Amino acid sequence: MSSQGVAIRPPQGKLGVLIPGIGAVATTFVAGTEAVRRGLAHPIGSLTQMGTVRLGKRTEGRSPAIKDFVPLARLDDLVFAGWDLFPDNAYEAALKAGVLERSHLDAVKDSLQELRPMPAVFERKFVKNLRGKNVKKGKTKMDLAEQLMDDIAGFKKRNGLDRMVMVWCASTEIFLRPSAVHESLGAFEKGLKSNSPQIAPSMIYAYAALKSGVPFANGAPNLTVDIPALRSLALKKELPVCGKDFKTGQTLMKTILAPGLKARLLGLRGWFSTNILGNRDGEVLDDPGSFRTKEESKLSALEYILQPDLYPELYRDLYHKVRINYYPPRGDNKEGWDNLDIFGWLGYPMQIKIDFLCRDSILAAPIVLDLVLFLDLAQRTPELARRGIQEWLSFYFKSPMTAPGLYPEHDLFIQLMKLKNTLRHLRGEELITHLGLEYYD
Ligand SMILES: NC(=O)c1ccc[n+]([C@@H]2O[C@H](COP(=O)([O-])OP(=O)(O)OC[C@H]3O[C@@H](n4cnc5c(N)ncnc54)[C@H](O)[C@@H]3O)[C@@H](O)[C@H]2O)c1
Repeated sequence: MSSQGVAIRPPQGKLGVLIPGIGAVATTFVAGTEAVRRGLAHPIGSLTQMGTVRLGKRTEGRSPAIKDFVPLARLDDLVFAGWDLFPDNAYEAALKAGVLERSHLDAVKDSLQELRPMPAVFERKFVKNLRGKNVKKGKTKMDLAEQLMDDIAGFKKRNGLDRMVMVWCASTEIFLRPSAVHESLGAFEKGLKSNSPQIAPSMIYAYAALKSGVPFANGAPNLTVDIPALRSLALKKELPVCGKDFKTGQTLMKTILAPGLKARLLGLRGWFSTNILGNRDGEVLDDPGSFRTKEESKLSALEYILQPDLYPELYRDLYHKVRINYYPPRGDNKEGWDNLDIFGWLGYPMQIKIDFLCRDSILAAPIVLDLVLFLDLAQRTPELARRGIQEWLSFYFKSPMTAPGLYPEHDLFIQLMKLKNTLRHLRGEELITHLGLEYYD
């Protein structure tokens, strides 16, 4: 049985995609999207492009593609722009990142070459291991925010865009705790004018996006938009925001495995994770400040999934360790090892070993595409936009943003159910509870 559903503005006209950070993830996303729209590749890993959603009873046989079920922007309507402290265009940056083969890049070279990064808002204090010259100058952080707003307005005008979204794909900044300057919009704006050292470049981008009426997603673990000042700006402007830190690689595996172990009430004594990676992200994470931000993001997922307070005999004494080692020969082709010491019936110990030879940016690119399209759906849906934080997009993040005081849901399968039920809700379809007693009436 379906009802009316909620109001959603149709996706007319072009959608601008603004990307701080034209590095490995961003170029793999743009090159892949171009290849898909030219019919050269399948959008593997993308829920918006390949996923389906079951509607009604199992006996009804209704499982439309998600992109036919909700009104998403078409890939042909996307236009890209970005910022980076290195002036390389996206073709050059992609060659340096070394994720995609030259033959794949050459097939979309013209589009990649057109994407030339605008000068970045950058401060070395926040990302110690990078040095680049394509950087904006300004007396105050407010000046810099205004320059970004001018960039955004210029991009919209030049391309005749209808709407925009911004997805942070730039480097991980050093660990910051929320402080007084982040507490309210007033304090934050004062801090921008007085160059508060607690305001990171990513926050300046997020502020500029929201002030310009652009939704914001954060692909890195930095605080960025997850501070009261910017959350309140998002609410005031009725703009969707989400983050933090794309869920790829080892953490993706954790949030697939840990719910399974907990479902069967198997205990965990230790989980040791180590990685070697050699891309620019790995180099940035070689700095202890940036690593700390990443570590906090990676560690929290297990704790929330396992709920040691509810299952003390199984998870209270878990020893969880995460290491990231910068190892240049591997480039973007990371290797992640996990050793799990688990225990079962009568406490008998067992072990699980995982050796994941993954490609980080290959896993991240479809996430960026889905976030672009779902954030845009959310901005056209007042029922979602007016709530600011889009918890239904937790599926894509290592540290999902939630309402203050609400613990995040990390279990990948609960996150997927939440996402699909949100789509059903928008279209007035019955939510699926998996009760299913009626099949036996
Ligand atoms: N690849 C993944 O699977 C994955 C998963 C989760 C999170 N992330 C995060 O996504 C981000 C991008 O990853 P990547 O592998 O593409 O890294 P990358 O180093 O290849 O690209 C990041 C780019 O951002 C630029 N940059 C840094 N600070 C900037 C600023 N203030 N303004 C504009 N540009 C800036 C850098 O010059 C670089 O070109 C990182 O923060 C990473 O931690 C990646």
